[in-house]
Amino acid sequence: MLYMLRLFIVNLGIHLAVLFLGLFLVIFFTKNGAALDEVEKYKYLFLVSGLVVFIERLIYYIKYYKFHILPYSLKLFNRVNNEQKESKIYLDKFKIYDKKSNTYFFKNRLSIDKKAYIDLKDRIIHLLGYEDKNEVEFEIKAHNKKEVAIKLFKLPKKFDWHIGLLKDKNIYLGHNKDGSYYLPLENLTSSICCGESGSGKSNFLNMIIFSLLQNSQYIEHLDFIDLKGVELSRYELNNTTFTDNIEEANNLFENLKNEMNNRFKEMKEKKDLTYNGNFRICLIDEIGTISTHFDKKLKENIFNNLIEIGQKGRASKVLLLIFSQKIDSTNIPTNVLTNLQGSFLLRTSSQFNINNSIGLNEEVEEITRTRVQDFPKGRVIFKDGLSSEKVLLQTPFLSQDVQNSMIKYFQNWINK
Ligand SMILES: Nc1ncnc2c1ncn2[C@@H]1O[C@H](COP(=O)(O)OP(=O)(O)OP(=O)(O)O)[C@@H](O)[C@H]1O
Ligand SMILES: [Mg+2]
Repeated sequence: MLYMLRLFIVNLGIHLAVLFLGLFLVIFFTKNGAALDEVEKYKYLFLVSGLVVFIERLIYYIKYYKFHILPYSLKLFNRVNNEQKESKIYLDKFKIYDKKSNTYFFKNRLSIDKKAYIDLKDRIIHLLGYEDKNEVEFEIKAHNKKEVAIKLFKLPKKFDWHIGLLKDKNIYLGHNKDGSYYLPLENLTSSICCGESGSGKSNFLNMIIFSLLQNSQYIEHLDFIDLKGVELSRYELNNTTFTDNIEEANNLFENLKNEMNNRFKEMKEKKDLTYNGNFRICLIDEIGTISTHFDKKLKENIFNNLIEIGQKGRASKVLLLIFSQKIDSTNIPTNVLTNLQGSFLLRTSSQFNINNSIGLNEEVEEITRTRVQDFPKGRVIFKDGLSSEKVLLQTPFLSQDVQNSMIKYFQNWINK
């Protein structure tokens, strides 16, 4: 309390000093340097404006009391030692709240420790009075040189799909802190999606397919491969093919590679940097089933083709979207994995999955309070293949009925 009072008085003092000096100078110059007794006449003006500033500051401090007290309560400070070994403490200060983005800014005169805020996430949430911790999500970003920005937002745990989420030239990836999140089709790269069984991969896969089909006019063909299930065989569209056979998959990759190289030839002739035609996109569910196949030569051939497509596919618009429960080298060869630029991470307790798709735990902690192993179904971290930006998303639930009706919808206009 005493700390708050001190903070308030210092801040009020500064505001009043600036105000009075400003007023004085205005009077001084408008009266052509009149003597001090002239100012005497304006004492009520000083009094009233001083009172206004006092009330304004008081309301500001009461309104944001919790935020002013936060650095003090959680010991968020910076300490420096001078030559006499005396240490001086610079406490972080609440700077401003941006209503539009629901973001709180904290500042330290020396430098600010973002990691401290990340480590104290749960205590910060508690202090701000969110009893039900599930209610609110949390993003911590460095801002300017000496500031930290804390953004509070809500992400639903479960919500339903609706067709209005589809958008021309864009892929809907779910809802993020600002609402519907779209990846421009142009920016799509070959990607890996990993998450443990039941985390919502297939749900997510179907949702991506909806967006791709919605953009059929920019996509030459979609190839679906699933060696252990038939889910993707349901589409039966003029621009989709499904296979659950490894030899067929092998032939397909061979074709895709040749197509890619033909496109490169064409680009070379036309001196184009990117292929100016439509996409060829291949989606593979559970790539691990290829790795466990007995035919070594066949596997090697497949993976070599995948590496080449991953490396060079983007410019020629030949892309791979690969789904897997695990991404260690027994499921997907490292060389294939490292050539997929984008990644999607769903619930997993494997640190290996996290590190090799998104990055360090600390990077995950910047954008969410929830541990990846505790993610609800359909919660995804997307790492953009071009910008490496990381986005926390919740994907909608696609019930069996919704999936069937969406497939019918696409059959009605694509197969006509
Ligand atoms: N976004 C979501 N919101 C709510 N529930 C979901 C969501 N996605 C999936 N589910 C639920 O979780 C169950 C498992 O989802 P899904 O089949 O997509 O998991 P998976 O990761 O593909 O699992 P597996 O690796 O075993 O194939 C689904 O039956 C569905 O009920
Ligand atoms: Mg699945």
